[in-house]
Amino acid sequence: MKNEIGTENLVKGGGLFYPEAINSVAKDVDLLFYFIFALSVIVFVGLVVATVYFLIKPRQKPTKHLTHSNTLEITWTVIPTILVMIIFFWGFKDYLRLQVPHSNALEIKVTGKKWLWEFVYPNGYTSVNELVIPEGRSIKLLMSAADVLHSFYVPNMRVKRDLIPNRYSALTLYSEKRGTYTIFCTEYCGDGHSIMLANLIVKGEDEYQEWIASAGSADDDLPLDELGKKLYTNKGCNACHSLDGSQMVGPTWKGLYKKSRPFTDGSSAIADENYIRESIVYPYKKIVKGYYANMPSYAGLLSDREIDAIIAYIKTLKE
Ligand code: CUA
Repeated sequence: MKNEIGTENLVKGGGLFYPEAINSVAKDVDLLFYFIFALSVIVFVGLVVATVYFLIKPRQKPTKHLTHSNTLEITWTVIPTILVMIIFFWGFKDYLRLQVPHSNALEIKVTGKKWLWEFVYPNGYTSVNELVIPEGRSIKLLMSAADVLHSFYVPNMRVKRDLIPNRYSALTLYSEKRGTYTIFCTEYCGDGHSIMLANLIVKGEDEYQEWIASAGSADDDLPLDELGKKLYTNKGCNACHSLDGSQMVGPTWKGLYKKSRPFTDGSSAIADENYIRESIVYPYKKIVKGYYANMPSYAGLLSDREIDAIIAYIKTLKE
């Protein structure tokens, strides 16, 4: 099964161990990783060399029976302590930089639910599976889960935080590079866990202000089918439903209107306006044969006009 949300950014411009880092904290996290990695290699090689040396070295008669050595004890206590302290303070410093948002941070509310990401901006605009942020600004994500545990993960920023039902968790983000990156759910949350992806789009400050000002407001005068086409991407329908008849997580929208739908319980129905509306608001009620009950309910996420718009758009997608 394929998903519309790309993951090319994970292989483009990355290093041996990590995808491209898009801010300085991520770069520092990598630096700490490489430090620990190099340290481990040095210790490992040292141990192997010493082991092999003592294995093949001819045995000598001990000149005196050795029971205690202060020099040895101090060496193997002090050196590891210093190394561990370096790693601790270095890591703690970066952890604080990741945790503490700026006082002028842009706050965005994030809700994880089976199986999509919902983002609510300060002006009330809600996007699904697409988080748009301005470049260079500190972003505070205030996150919670609607049902089970989810986890918000941006590999390009090296940040990850759990979303918990009935509790808020916060995460600070910022990007120093424009582009499109991938957000993953990294807490197993059921059948649709692997398709719970979102795009992180980093725009320039002006571009972002323009986008947020026009987001949603232009929709009032759009014809229904055109609004539906826009919602197809904006509300994340495109993650699971194709327009060209190809097989994705959910049934294709091509030729869907007035098509006979066979269900898993043996019954069937014609995909008319009422059926499509019910499938959007109560997706678990009828499951089409060959698919799973993966779709989240869009109750509260779409207005009546938006549901009408999606139905109008589906009607235009003839076979
Ligand atoms: Cu949400 Cu895994």
